[in-house]
Amino acid sequence: MGPVKVGILGLGTVGGGTVNVLSRNAEEIFRRAGRGIQVTHAAARDITRARSCDTSEIQLTDNPQDIVANPEVDIIVELIGGEELARDLVMKAIANGKHVVTANKALIAKYGNEIFNAAQKKGVMVAFEAAVAGGIPIIKAIREGLSGNRIEWLAGIINGTGNFILTEMRDKGRDFSDVLQEAQRLGYAEADPTFDVEGIDAAHKLTILASIAFGIPLQFEKAYTEGITKITQEDVSYAEQLGYRIKHLGIAKRTDSGIELRVHPTLIPERRLIANVDGVMNAVLVKGDAVGPTLYYGAGAGSEATASAVVADIIDVVRTLTADPENRVPHLAFQPDSINDTPILPVEDIQTAYYLRMSADDKPGVLAEVTQILGDAEISIEALIQKEPQNAETQVQIIMLTHKVYEKQMISAIEKIEALDSIKDQLTRIRVETLDKE
Ligand code: NDP
Ligand code: HSE
Repeated sequence: MGPVKVGILGLGTVGGGTVNVLSRNAEEIFRRAGRGIQVTHAAARDITRARSCDTSEIQLTDNPQDIVANPEVDIIVELIGGEELARDLVMKAIANGKHVVTANKALIAKYGNEIFNAAQKKGVMVAFEAAVAGGIPIIKAIREGLSGNRIEWLAGIINGTGNFILTEMRDKGRDFSDVLQEAQRLGYAEADPTFDVEGIDAAHKLTILASIAFGIPLQFEKAYTEGITKITQEDVSYAEQLGYRIKHLGIAKRTDSGIELRVHPTLIPERRLIANVDGVMNAVLVKGDAVGPTLYYGAGAGSEATASAVVADIIDVVRTLTADPENRVPHLAFQPDSINDTPILPVEDIQTAYYLRMSADDKPGVLAEVTQILGDAEISIEALIQKEPQNAETQVQIIMLTHKVYEKQMISAIEKIEALDSIKDQLTRIRVETLDKE
């Protein structure tokens, strides 16, 4: 049998890495897949530009539609990114009976339901391992490795750029925008880096993880999303004094009333392994009822780390080319007719503990006013620090950790505290998760 023919749309960070890995490991890949895999076609905007990979044996075009329509190509690998063009190309590839591999989490989170439905009808595969947590095989781990479990919750550092920024800020006191520029140079960041720093990219990924963990449709629009742009050096340092690290987490949790789906900065006890995941590395904790907590760790972005996942998907597709479509692993882990409608909870109905920091007048009675408001809202305080005013300052910093409360209780208490004359500016609020076995 001749080699399987692959058309790659996009020869940037991930596309270049994919060509390099396929070529360097061709012999090992052949032994695994049972067939050769040949990149015959590739698309880029500027086909005259020097590339990070050897394209001498590849037919290049600046029109990706040509590749999608080419009857010689068996598998389309979508690495262009973005939403509308990628959606159009993937839907056309499916309509033309081609299997698809993509690293595009925005595409899957927003249009995955439509894409998988079309793929199911056409009997083709759409594989997306690289869309979540770069090189970590987290999709396969949840969809296949943990398929005997009822998944209770998962929590992950799932944006490499954001984790790189937070780590460099904490360890080296570097400036936010300076580290972001470095992440862009290293090829970690999205084409629009606000996706990374505002939590949108992590919310895309969390949407995908929740769907395969709980057997629910992809519902990106219901994810609560908060980025890392408001995290200050001060908060990083106070968190450390309290024994915590600040990480940007995606959390999906089953509760009796529905599913929590939220992305936000989070204080995590520093003794947890995941609190020590630094730089561009990602990690995902998954708690199954049978296995208990499991942790997956690895590079969350970058050329060859992501190509590792893309190539694994290509091999998977090649291995199953001859398998009866009915007997393939379902795209979203659960059989399409078993996807259920467990509701996603509004953020007001989630429960977490909180870190609060406020600037208060340095005079008697202020702390009593604040604790009175919290007490009235039935919010109990677990730890409290009051910082001495520096030099001629008339304000003191008050830092608190609370026990778990409903978000709506906290929102109402914060409004009342911010209305006090003795409190200056807005209060800083960061959620706290212990990530223990519960
Ligand atoms: P890049 O920007 O590095 O590469 C995009 C490629 O697509 C470029 O080669 C570009 O061409 C080509 N392209 C863009 N628009 C067109 C068009 N209209 N016609 C033809 N070619 C086009 O992106 P990445 O490789 O970083 O990301 C690709 C995908 O992988 C995205 O969905 C991203 O979210 C995802 N991803 C990225 C990771 C990473 O670490 N970078 C990790 C995991 C997923 P040209 O080079 O000529 O400009
Ligand atoms: N921009 C993404 C990140 C790429 O930094 O995690 C990997 O999905």
